[in-house]
Amino acid sequence: MSVKPSSAKQTFNPPCDHTYDLLMRRRSVKTRDMRAPGPDDTVVTKILAAGMRVPDHGKIAPWRFIVLRGDDRAKLGDVIATSLVAENETSEKIADKMRGYATQAPVLIVAVSCPSGDRPIPLWEQELSSGAACQNMLIAATALGFASQWLTGWASYSPGVCRGLGLTTDEKIAGFMFFGNHADGEPTERPRPDPAAHTRWGYPDSE
Ligand SMILES: Cc1cc2nc3c(=O)[nH]c(=O)nc-3n(C[C@H](O)[C@H](O)[C@H](O)COP(=O)(O)O)c2cc1C
Repeated sequence: MSVKPSSAKQTFNPPCDHTYDLLMRRRSVKTRDMRAPGPDDTVVTKILAAGMRVPDHGKIAPWRFIVLRGDDRAKLGDVIATSLVAENETSEKIADKMRGYATQAPVLIVAVSCPSGDRPIPLWEQELSSGAACQNMLIAATALGFASQWLTGWASYSPGVCRGLGLTTDEKIAGFMFFGNHADGEPTERPRPDPAAHTRWGYPDSE
């Protein structure tokens, strides 16, 4: 598809077919289909920079990121297992399985929503900005040739896990963002929603 410029004189934002194509083919890659070594620190830094280039009402930067690779992921795995037993009275066997949650991909970035209560910006908007940061990181990873997936699950809501990661009580885990190299072959795709089914064009008729 060829994208036409909105203005003939436009220089800051020249149309970029490639970016649109990338958005339209972006998809999550299951962590079991990710391979080591994953993005190195230079690439992770680029992914983080893209994550921070998001709309942010009030310029609060209501998010922060914790990068875990190597043994640091295992430390989180231990906290997940311990918290699971403590909070859910889960058996050690199940907890042991969950220990592997943090090590399922070479690189894990924990995206933390840290809204400010000092500013008159609704909490919801600050949390939306965290979601945008997560999505930007997925897009950046795709652009840089890496596989990525955004997961949450039980661990992201566990008080023990949040404490272990040093979150304050005002902070929440917006996502466990996993990154790795692609395995051979194309990652599976899923049917995508039909824009027409989720869009109303024009003002809703009033009864
Ligand atoms: C906030 C958030 C949390 C998610 N948590 C999970 C999860 O815990 N487990 C899961 O299988 N998918 C989860 N997903 C969905 C995947 O990230 C992904 O969207 C899904 O696998 C479909 O892939 P796609 O990105 O190609 O559409 C989550 C998505 C969002 C936005």
